[in-house]
Formats: sequence, structure tokens, C-alpha cells
Amino acid sequence: MNAMRPYPRGWFVIAWAGELAPGSLKPMRYFGRDLVLWRKEDGTPVVQDAFCPHLGAHFAHGGHVKGDRLVCPFHAWEFDDSGACAHIPYATKIPPRARIACWPVVERNGVIFMWHDPDGGAPDWEIPVIAEHGTSDWTPWYENKVTVNTHPREIVENVADSAHFPAVHRTFVDQFENIYEGHKATQHTIGKATPKLGGVDHFDITATYHGPAFQISDMRGVLHAMLLLAHTPIDENSLDLRFAVMLQRTGPRTDEFAKFYVDNLTLGFHEDIAIWEHKVYRPRPQLVAEDGPIGRLRAWYSQFYRSADVVGS
Ligand code: FES
Ligand SMILES: [Fe+2]
Repeated sequence: MNAMRPYPRGWFVIAWAGELAPGSLKPMRYFGRDLVLWRKEDGTPVVQDAFCPHLGAHFAHGGHVKGDRLVCPFHAWEFDDSGACAHIPYATKIPPRARIACWPVVERNGVIFMWHDPDGGAPDWEIPVIAEHGTSDWTPWYENKVTVNTHPREIVENVADSAHFPAVHRTFVDQFENIYEGHKATQHTIGKATPKLGGVDHFDITATYHGPAFQISDMRGVLHAMLLLAHTPIDENSLDLRFAVMLQRTGPRTDEFAKFYVDNLTLGFHEDIAIWEHKVYRPRPQLVAEDGPIGRLRAWYSQFYRSADVVGS
């Protein structure tokens, strides 16, 4: 049973900045919709519905960007970033309803985000700036993406679920604390990890969800890392899980360490994925005192859904 549906309201990661060159476009499918992500030639990213209001061609299959306009592959109608049809090469009058739906987009910290609200509401909070990103003291993001057959609430539940760390990740938690504040949920964990690829790493992590769909972590261990974790629903049964690592530079091998770090994270996520893809959701789980604050987490997460869309939480 999907106890929260269809999709939450918030900012969602839809691409790494480097995936989309100025003047290019790509098809996307998120929130059960076909979308086109394109960049104007000045670099500004735009997200719009994928199908042309004329006769329904998919913009990202054969279309192209011309200056600050998106050109349909079928009859070459041109649309601007407000979704309005700006030019029809063979007609003098543009139908006033020839428009495509647009979605708010922000590019920040080397990542492209899209705002989704099932009721069409405007963004009501900002994506934080990661001051370290893009500085010479830090590596760039080292990124990965996995498609997972699960619901985003399963991933978010990691914030409160302290008891799965030793069982799933061979990670031992000494101190664990959650702070819920408006659209933010922070997990503070001190412990030690025994990664699959070897070694023991003592760590101190402050990981904050900014809304329902992405988390920024400041992780201090042998190295100082920033982590980005994001999940964006493709449809009601699957999502794209993206994660990225940047490390504070300590020497010439830091980039190599960052790649190793992402490989380790990928292994760690596959451990969770093996659980997520086969589990059911328990609206009323049987919990013990030592489980983390799962009820509190669920109450926080439900704020991103319309109340009619939350069942049995
Ligand atoms: S279908 Fe797009 S211009 Fe005709
Ligand atoms: Fe986990």
C-alpha cells in the first residue's frame, strides 16, 4: 500500500550541472510526467512539459535550442522560457493557448533542482548554498546515480532509524540525535564505520534534509567530506537516487580518495536498496524504545504531502 501519494512538495535534484551543456536539451521523466530539461545558450536551465501543444511532439526527441528558445522538431514552433509560443515559421497569428507548462528551476552548488508542488504552488523555502563548493580547497563533486524501485519515504526514514546501521552497514553508533525544525530534519551521528572496501573510520556526521528530497551532510572522519543525497520520484514505484561526495583537499591524492569514497557509498546504498526494494510499509510498526524517533520523522515528512494523501501514518 502506498500510504503517501502521489508525490511530495519540494525541491528535487533532476541533474548534475555538468550533464547539460548550454544550448542542449534532454528528456526526463519525473513525477509520472514527461518533461524536457534544456539550457538557453546563456546557460540558464529550464524545465517544461515534454509535449508540444500543437500536435504533441516530444521536444527532447529531435527538438533543439535556438538562443533562448526551444524549437519543436515537428513543425518548428518556438517557445520561450515562460512557456509561451513566440514564433510559428509559417503563420502570422499565434494561438493564445499555445503554451507549455513550466516548472521552477534553480542551479546551485553544481546541481540542477526543480520545484514540484502537486497544487502548483510556488517555492516556499530556499536551497542552501554550500560555501565549500567550487573553492580550490575542495574537490568537485564525485557523483553517482542509481534507479531504485521504492517509495521516497523509505529513504527518508534512514534519518531516524539508528538500529539498522550495525545490521545493514556494519556501522556502530555511539551518539545519535535528531532535530526537526520546519522543513529541515537533522541527524547527528557519532560512531565508527567498517567499510566493505576495508579499514575503520571514526566519524561525526551532521546530515540535514532540506525538505523531503535532498540531504546535505558534513562528515568529519579521517577526511572532511560533504555529501549530497537526493531522491526524485520517476513514478509512484521508482525513483532516481543520486549521491555525490566532495572532499577537503589534503594532498595530491584527494581526488582519488573521493572516487573511492563514492564507490564505498554506492556499496552502502546497495545494502539499503536490497531491503527497500522488497519491504512493505508498516503504517503502525511494532517499535522498541531503542529504535530511533521514527514516529517523529514520519510526522515531519508528512508535512510535504496534502493531508488527504497521507493514509494511516
Ligand atoms: S507538434 Fe510541435 S510544432 Fe507541431
Ligand atoms: Fe542505510
